[in-house]
Amino acid sequence: MKTEKLKSLLDSMTLQEKIDQMLQLTGAFYQDADSVLTGPEEQLGITGEDVSMAGSILGTCGAEKLMKIQKNYMEKHPHHIPLLFMMDIIHGMKTIFPIPLGQAASFEPELAKRCAAAAAKEAAVAGLHVTFAPMVDLVRDARWGRVMESTGEDPWLNSLFAKAMVEGFQGDDLSRPYKVAACVKHFAAYGAVQAGREYHTVELSEHTLREYYLPAYQAGIDAGAAMVMTSFNTINGIPASTNRWLMRDVLREEMGFDGVLISDFSAILETIAHGNSKDCREAAVKAVQAGVDIDMMTNVYTANLRELSEEGMVEKARIDQSVMRILELKNKLGLFENPYKDADAKKEKEILLCEEHRALAREAAVKSFVLLENDGILPVNTEKSTAFIGPYTDSRQIKSSWAFTGDDKDCVSIEAAAREVFDRSRTEYRKGSPVLGTDSKGSEKRLTGFTGDEFGMLTREEEEEMRKEAVEAAKKAETVIMPLGEHYLQSGEAASRAQISIPEVQMELFRAVYEVNKNIIVILFCGRPLDIREITEKARAVLVVWRPGTEGGNAVVDVLTGKENPSGRLPMSFPYCVGQVPVHYNEFSTGRPNQKGVQERFRSKYLDIPNEPLYPFGYGLGYTRFSLSQIRLDKRKFKAGETIQASVNLKNVGTCKGTETVQFYIRDVAASVVRPVKELKGFEKVTLEPGEERTVRFSIEEPMLRFHTENHQFVSEAGEFLVFVGTDSRTENQAGFILC
Ligand code: IFM
Repeated sequence: MKTEKLKSLLDSMTLQEKIDQMLQLTGAFYQDADSVLTGPEEQLGITGEDVSMAGSILGTCGAEKLMKIQKNYMEKHPHHIPLLFMMDIIHGMKTIFPIPLGQAASFEPELAKRCAAAAAKEAAVAGLHVTFAPMVDLVRDARWGRVMESTGEDPWLNSLFAKAMVEGFQGDDLSRPYKVAACVKHFAAYGAVQAGREYHTVELSEHTLREYYLPAYQAGIDAGAAMVMTSFNTINGIPASTNRWLMRDVLREEMGFDGVLISDFSAILETIAHGNSKDCREAAVKAVQAGVDIDMMTNVYTANLRELSEEGMVEKARIDQSVMRILELKNKLGLFENPYKDADAKKEKEILLCEEHRALAREAAVKSFVLLENDGILPVNTEKSTAFIGPYTDSRQIKSSWAFTGDDKDCVSIEAAAREVFDRSRTEYRKGSPVLGTDSKGSEKRLTGFTGDEFGMLTREEEEEMRKEAVEAAKKAETVIMPLGEHYLQSGEAASRAQISIPEVQMELFRAVYEVNKNIIVILFCGRPLDIREITEKARAVLVVWRPGTEGGNAVVDVLTGKENPSGRLPMSFPYCVGQVPVHYNEFSTGRPNQKGVQERFRSKYLDIPNEPLYPFGYGLGYTRFSLSQIRLDKRKFKAGETIQASVNLKNVGTCKGTETVQFYIRDVAASVVRPVKELKGFEKVTLEPGEERTVRFSIEEPMLRFHTENHQFVSEAGEFLVFVGTDSRTENQAGFILC
């Protein structure tokens, strides 16, 4: 539809019809019993009228169902305006790819783009128009359950993945087949919630916000994201959804976002609980003035905006502006021409979980795995007697809590995959324990409310019986492979944990097995970095597989057996212990750094633990070894417009083919605002045969030295810099250069 026609459509709408476009409800209001509720429902005052006219629906999918809802709605709508269907397609629709944190570990944004494109294709044929992804929040605190949905602790890596995912979902034209609109979330700085507690306060300086948190949102917006979602938290004491400065001055004016801004689930209403709005009327005024176009799942807008506008408390022009943006999005998706877009029940059957997508899920899972430890026990010899012991041995619950559109039954368990490869006569499979204990201490008990088959079904005696049986199998085996880890509901939304450990019942199993067999390989399922010191001290190998998705079992066996060589690198530091979080590589030096030259007692350090995380950002092993030469710079001084070439030689000095991720960091030695000890500025994944050597080059250019000054100017400052090239963020392989 031409813009002129859209404008006349807008002009022909009544005020209430316009306001209704600004409401989003779940499919439950449209008789969809399967509609997924992703927030609290009880406080809503939704009326029948709201339902019949709401402009968009969330949480429901399926071609046939959505086509029916669309048809009924449009028939009743006075202007026959189509609905928008939105859902959280976070890491796959039916084919589930690894969680975003795992995808980030691949250090391959192009892979994430392919996963997003495949997810978009499945979502589109299932009738969806928008996905609430990517979540690009920078994360530094592993206690926050949502780190699983992020791409980690580095602003630049986050930006690359934000761009890749938006491009994957949207392509370059939303009206084209199999594309869905992306919604960058949660604006802004939701990842900085205090102490990692969900829905908590964010206290952040404007400098930190601009320098570290905003870049990934900007990258998503620059990539053309059609939507942005507000965050639940406050910024400078004002909730994001009513924060006019944040939304209008920063998001719209400075960052140039002109798409649809949606609140998070009931976030406008929640500004009352925040203590920022005295009632719904005030919340509505503030959110509209901040430029929030859609109110997700409350009637704050629909019940108040008309009256407020008639009283002159809200300008009609503001409402028009929001509605126009919503209509424009519908138009960009081509819904006025074809309100069903790609919804197609036949294609749904062909495309969902198709072989091509399964193959991609397997590739992505393999590339997401991070090998933390290996004393040579991996890859395993499948001829040796082996016992698989652990609750994830035969579990198909290997997606995540943000993959509710997928089915566990479609997932390949480790046992199912291993049975195809391991010598049947010499391999045992034992669960050994449930994922969460019935009676043991700690966070396991706090998961009440979730009564999955893994939880609360066994007595303590039954658990002990399982363990005993597993220990017997461990005694007889040459190698024990232990698939352990968090419950899938222990990470995701509303899943903050103060103790980021493996459930105690599984640690009891691990200790019991260790007593009888030291040849343990741990396969770690997790949605976040965990405190795993005990495991890494005792196990001979540890492989992090995150929540690997549909093809998880096949991918694990590919890597265990050496069919594939692990190449993932940590996108987020694994802490030494929980008392150390937030911990991230790109920290400041402090005035008393913990290093030579400062009197030991008065250094910035802990008395009882090291400052360094257990495994830092960028870390990961493979089955071969690489050597890296010192850095060569083609010059030591340069000015804006010029380039310095930094090069290193990488050589595979091991015995098999492997992939290394060569990482390039910069430090600004002295600036008007303190700068991090290192910042990632580039990386290259290089695959080499044994004995093969390659020169890897990085260009140093002035724009990559820019930062936000005290007055929020984004500039570089002349002076001394250090460049580091290595295989993780601890690298000390450095050289100096000067920007004149
Ligand atoms: O997209 C999500 C958001 O990330 C958290 N609250 C609910 C939204 C819609 O499901």
